Amino acid sequence: MRVLLTGSAGFIGSAIRRALEAAGDEVVGVDLMLPQAHGAARAPEGTHHLDVREAGVWSRLLDGVDIVCHQAAMVGAGLSPADLPAYAGHNDLGTAALLAAMADRGVHQLVQASSMVVYGEGRYRCAKHGPAPAGVRPLEALDQGSFDHECTTCARPLSWDLVTEDARLEPRSSYAASKVAQEHYAAAWARQVGGRVISLRYHNVYGPHMPRDTPYSGVAALFRSALERGEAPRVFEDGEQARDFVHVTDVAEANLLAIGAVGDRPAGSVSAYNVGSGIPVTIREVACLVGRTHGGVAPDVTGDYRRGDVRHIVASPERAAAELGFHARITPQAGLREFATAPLRT
Ligand code: UD1
Repeated sequence: MRVLLTGSAGFIGSAIRRALEAAGDEVVGVDLMLPQAHGAARAPEGTHHLDVREAGVWSRLLDGVDIVCHQAAMVGAGLSPADLPAYAGHNDLGTAALLAAMADRGVHQLVQASSMVVYGEGRYRCAKHGPAPAGVRPLEALDQGSFDHECTTCARPLSWDLVTEDARLEPRSSYAASKVAQEHYAAAWARQVGGRVISLRYHNVYGPHMPRDTPYSGVAALFRSALERGEAPRVFEDGEQARDFVHVTDVAEANLLAIGAVGDRPAGSVSAYNVGSGIPVTIREVACLVGRTHGGVAPDVTGDYRRGDVRHIVASPERAAAELGFHARITPQAGLREFATAPLRT
């Protein structure tokens, strides 16, 4: 198969590229080499240094392509309003331009990177009252070290439940809003051209060659960099916030499965799948796992918090298992321990 892969030089894109090439597929790689992710690095050999927003200009690269795997995006927390135009430009407009070019060239299959952030807060449950809504946590409560959502009926702390793909989309950041927009543009396009789309909602991705300590890095890379400097990992809140850490090679495998499956879907079909390891961990556990390989450095659980962080988000891996046959191979316990000494991208 001939696959046009956007973001092919990125942390996740380059893992997908390796997996596709190992499977004998031909890859047309496109990457803008955004400085936030790549610093001053040049595009690797075999990568077209191009902007997805200008896909109309370079759309001849789509000739003979069977499927597009769209990973290019501006990532990160997306909390500053000053960054809104950049998210809307790279992610919303970029996807729209790519879809228009695909329609023009008759390429009707798309697998794209989405994220768990589309759900906002995860799903919660009160031990007494069952499923419970969770709004935005009040700053006064966070200042007092009270991090859990509470039941609106009895004020008990809420525990988390697995989030399934039919949950309401409730983006809380510019990045999250742009990921929802990408899914919606792709759905509109699928209806317009009779296309087929699979969106993969990644959980917290980690692994070798993850970008080093930048404002755009996920927590695993931040912990890893702190340990390298001889400092304890700084854990926010009480460290009990739950996530799912999925290894980048498993994410690449999920993409290969989606690329293999999307062509068999009916015209106009639009599907989304959670992509995680299926094994929830707390952030304190993540710090301990990474710290263990650095002589057992204990985490510094600070009680600080970041405005805009969600408390727990853990997604159900069931649909991806049932419909794509995706089962992550690397547990966070094994993968994070290995990640502690894996090379990072500078
Ligand atoms: C992350 C990504 C988001 C992605 C989502 C799902 C970043 C910045 N965020 O969100 O883009 O879509 O996963 O894949 O890449 N924490 C600490 N110490 C630190 C930094 C963070 O304890 O130094 C805590 C945070 O308070 C939070 C947790 O670690 O509770 C996870 O933070 P982060 O890695 O930023 O991930 P998410 O917010 O889950």
